[in-house]
Amino acid sequence: MTISSIFLVALFSLIYGNAVLPIEATHHVYNLQSLSTYSSKQPYRTAYHFQPLKNWINDPNGPLWYGGLYHMFYQYNPKGAVWGNIVWAHSVSEDLVNWRPLDHAISPSQPADINGCWSGSATILPGGKPAMLYTGIDPNKHQVQNLAIPKNMSDPLLREWVKSPKNPLMAPTIANKINSSSFRDPTTAWLGKDGYWRVLIGSKTNTRGEAIMYKSKNFVNWVQAKYPLHSAEGTGMWECPDFYPVLNKIPFAFGLDTSVNGNDVRHVLKVSLDDTKHDHYLIGSYDTAKDNFIPDKGFEDNKSVLRYDYGKYYASKTFFDDGKNRRILLGWVNESSSVADDIKKGWSGIHTIPRAIWLHKSGKQLVQWPVVEIEKLRMNPVYWPAKKVKGGELLQVAGVNAVQSDVEISFEVNEIGKAEVLDHWIDPQILCSRKGAAVKGAVGPFGLLVFASQGLKEYTAVFFRIFKYQHQNLVLMCSDQSRSSLNKDNDMTTYGTFLDVDPLHEKLSLRTLIDHSVVESFGGEGKACITARVYPTLAINDKAKLYAFNYGTTAVKITRLSAWSMKKAKDN
Ligand code: FRU
Repeated sequence: MTISSIFLVALFSLIYGNAVLPIEATHHVYNLQSLSTYSSKQPYRTAYHFQPLKNWINDPNGPLWYGGLYHMFYQYNPKGAVWGNIVWAHSVSEDLVNWRPLDHAISPSQPADINGCWSGSATILPGGKPAMLYTGIDPNKHQVQNLAIPKNMSDPLLREWVKSPKNPLMAPTIANKINSSSFRDPTTAWLGKDGYWRVLIGSKTNTRGEAIMYKSKNFVNWVQAKYPLHSAEGTGMWECPDFYPVLNKIPFAFGLDTSVNGNDVRHVLKVSLDDTKHDHYLIGSYDTAKDNFIPDKGFEDNKSVLRYDYGKYYASKTFFDDGKNRRILLGWVNESSSVADDIKKGWSGIHTIPRAIWLHKSGKQLVQWPVVEIEKLRMNPVYWPAKKVKGGELLQVAGVNAVQSDVEISFEVNEIGKAEVLDHWIDPQILCSRKGAAVKGAVGPFGLLVFASQGLKEYTAVFFRIFKYQHQNLVLMCSDQSRSSLNKDNDMTTYGTFLDVDPLHEKLSLRTLIDHSVVESFGGEGKACITARVYPTLAINDKAKLYAFNYGTTAVKITRLSAWSMKKAKDN
């Protein structure tokens, strides 16, 4: 930090230091006076999911790979365990598993961000120079877009960031009629063949969500494009848009730089819907010359809009890891505990395990899988030979640390004749809450009981259940939190989705990452993800147990179970 910026930060923190800022993104503002106590002896702190030592975090920002290190920035409140006073905190990692904290990278210092440094993204400019576009909150509480670049490119830690004196580079005006409280979260920019950079900013007009596009030759002077890249009536504010190419041929999992386009490429548009707090995505074609994004057939109606994760998961962002030729997805997982409990424990918010993300070979959906590096935390494996599980059977998975583990299980179903019939389409989340793990079925529920207490007063159930619907076999995947805790102050919503797997010809696989207060599950080899936050009161530390179960009347076969206790990661 330069002397003058130290002075500026000091001056501004004098002015704003103790204030409760009344501007809200979509997060509540709480009185900071009540924030206090941090104790490290806590059963709910995670061992290998990213979280800082204390305080509030939300969105991952500007992830990038530079100088042999992964850099991750994130929305952070230096003063407490609730949202407010937002700066960009900064951590680096060699492997996306172990993280080291650095000083805050971007904090309020200019008029263009004096009331907060909100979400944004990194773009690697020609010559390998990173540039951050981020949302600042100006003295009028208007949302504007700013630029910051590293002060010293030879510092692999990229510790210091210099803001453009021209900030803000994009702002709402009377002429452009952009809503000044709905204009935020710039994407990674991409370069067209015409030599212009393009970037998207999340916005809305009335209830129409939109991804406004700006273009620039030099990354400093930005001009609004005539039309948004995409918009949709009734969807409300689009936060944290993300727009990137995926490869539509073998090897599908090969990641692409954000500026790549071509015949073998599909494009993904992800938006975080402020109204529902879910991350939705569309797959389609992007015509670079016309700046036109056309979603594929099948993405038109509400039923078919896909989500990255059907649990608690929001404000995600991808980046291209050119060191390993993959695209990596990071996401924020908010707490499900009460604000009072968050303040008591002194922290709030974690990130998911970074996931590789690519197009499924069907072209119809994306696939996600925890980065392979996480497997180096595995120890003391437990393997089961194939075994039949009769209806009503509960089998303990002994020998693994039930609060800190990585579990892979696959089921085979041979007999589907008795499956329950679904006579009309129903939202899968509602179906899961009506038919939770305790509701016995015909084919399913079968899966895992995690964070289970002695006598099953508490457990979280991740499971499959098979229905017949319009002459097809429909697989439901659920994460049932309804009995996860005796503390009823927690949000214990049950989550669910249908899984595009043919249960008679494919194995039903489930991988679950269990980490003290998070249950991050991947069904069908990454076709569907569900993340849940749970706070058991009995099933904590060595009191917790892990089971495989089948509460359907039809027997199923476990073809494979591999489970590992997980080492603790160096996490900030
Ligand atoms: C999403 C979000 C963004 C905003 C940031 C503020 O969670 O509301 O739209 O930039 O958080 O912290």
